[in-house]
Amino acid sequence: MENKVLYSAVQPSGNLTIGNYAGAIRNWVRMQSEFDCFFAIADMHAITVRQEPALLRRRTAELAALYLACGIDPERCTLYVQSQVSAHAELAWALNCITYVGEMERMTQFKDKSRKHADNINMGLMDYPVLMAADILLYQPHYVPVGADQKQHVEITRDIAIRFNNRYGETFRVPEPYIMKEGASIKSLQEPAKKMSKSDENANASVYLTDDKDTIIRKFKRAVTDSDNEIRVSPEKAGISNLLNIYASFAGCSLAEAENTFRGKGYGDFKLAVGETVADALAPVQEEQRRLLSDKEYLNSVLQAGAERAFKASRKTLSKVYRKIGFYRGE
Ligand code: TYM
Repeated sequence: MENKVLYSAVQPSGNLTIGNYAGAIRNWVRMQSEFDCFFAIADMHAITVRQEPALLRRRTAELAALYLACGIDPERCTLYVQSQVSAHAELAWALNCITYVGEMERMTQFKDKSRKHADNINMGLMDYPVLMAADILLYQPHYVPVGADQKQHVEITRDIAIRFNNRYGETFRVPEPYIMKEGASIKSLQEPAKKMSKSDENANASVYLTDDKDTIIRKFKRAVTDSDNEIRVSPEKAGISNLLNIYASFAGCSLAEAENTFRGKGYGDFKLAVGETVADALAPVQEEQRRLLSDKEYLNSVLQAGAERAFKASRKTLSKVYRKIGFYRGE
């Protein structure tokens, strides 16, 4: 029996955070033995906000190295750069023509980003979920593992797939979002009601995958908590709950086990322990990423092989779509 297919992607837009790691990439490593995986570097999504070209190029390579450093095996998975596979842009166009402007205007991330980048509300920003639907549907995946913040985008992908299938006949598999419990939503260390984001202006709010041990511990020491001294998960204790979630996710235990570990301890010791756990877990990944970045030949060969595989898989779906839509290919 063939393996089920998994698809996901990360944007190379900014310094990746422990949210991207715990909510996404790290979980994929565990899944690669069970599924046929496609993992993309979504550079076409990244340019929906302004990017400095040299930096975008560098971050693309850094992200590729990070995937590999985390343990993504390029022999088993298809690891590629989105803009190197033209079917993404092509399918996005076809899907645009069955997607309504009103649906896109209602997307949470579009509303947030429009507020944040009020001087640059471009068509791409609004169209972002359609490109994401194209990414996914091209590879006919069963599952799309993402953090909680991307769930809405996977839901609209399902809507678009169902609509296309209804209009033109069975074409796309309708994928399921796959959201991990621990790590699915790592919050800002400064405003724990918000998700930790690579584009946060306050550098203390996010722990970056490139931060060294001292920086990581300093950021956790400054994390916002509350004025009582109980270490437990509760909606009224957003800061502490977030730290427990981060700890559980990096120590590889459940939230209940994390609570037990720190029962009766003070906030100071707790924050230090979380910082050390995160820093120690990241250290080998950071070292391997640096090593890979110094071997561009290898990195480029992995991405080229990935793009070739992605090209083949995506063409199959795109040809089917073009046929169904009625694009002329000779009678
Ligand atoms: P991006 O680049 O913002 O984030 C990559 C992945 O990291 C997850 N994530 C988090 N998880 C937990 N806590 C956080 N604080 C946190 N911040 C980010 C995201 O949920 C995501 O899984 N649009 C996507 C990229 C994309 C994509 C796709 C994803 C493009 N095409 C197709 C899946 C399938 C994005 O911006 O993710």
